[in-house]
Amino acid sequence: MAKGLTGAYLAGGLTLGVMALTAGVLLLAPSLGQGLESAVRLTARTSLLLFLLVFCSSALWARWPGAFSRWLRQQRRYVALGFAGSHLVHAGLFTWLASQGPLQAAEVWQPAMILVGGSSYLVLLLLVLTSNNAAQRWLGAARWQRLHRIGVYWLWAQFLISMGKRLPVDGLFYSGWVVLLLAAMVLRLWPRPAPVRDASA
Ligand code: HEM
Repeated sequence: MAKGLTGAYLAGGLTLGVMALTAGVLLLAPSLGQGLESAVRLTARTSLLLFLLVFCSSALWARWPGAFSRWLRQQRRYVALGFAGSHLVHAGLFTWLASQGPLQAAEVWQPAMILVGGSSYLVLLLLVLTSNNAAQRWLGAARWQRLHRIGVYWLWAQFLISMGKRLPVDGLFYSGWVVLLLAAMVLRLWPRPAPVRDASA
């Protein structure tokens, strides 16, 4: 794995990459409204892919130890921050979309979306604020792990609901995402082989 692609550079690079993709979509779209709608969906998908990498990082290392799974396991905190960055861009875009007119505002600010989506942003904020060694020490290993486990399962459920409710729009496309989410959960929960020693950790 590229040596420079670690730590804060990785988290920043992932966020900048998502911003660059967003700018590309907005520039190429026939209108700002259409561009914003596409970019909101795109950033939800980049968030989901980054989230799944973090969600499966330990299971991937346990099952398929290798250069990529080792790198991912070591960098999972920064990939997680990249996911948070991508989701912040998602929030910026749906707020921008809502400002385009009353129709768009009604589409974005649905009460259920605000309640469930908003609580997920609070969960995400809590996870980001505690994704450092000081917070880990302050909370203690057991409490920190409980908080992060509940948090990531909450976000997983939110992604499943968000993709699942779009099945009637495009069954084939959205069932792919649903299957990916379910497969990630199976991979995470399936009993793992004996832990592999990571000499470089
Ligand atoms: C107040 C909070 C939120 C609002 C207002 C919001 C708004 C939106 C909007 C307007 C769309 C596009 C809808 C469409 O064109 O069909 C969307 C798509 C999506 N959002 Fe969010 N969102 C919120 C939070 C979240 C959270 C917390 C997650 C996941 C943890 C999430 C995941 C998704 C997914 C997976 C999609 C579908 C992308 C696709 O069509 O492929 N959203 N959101």
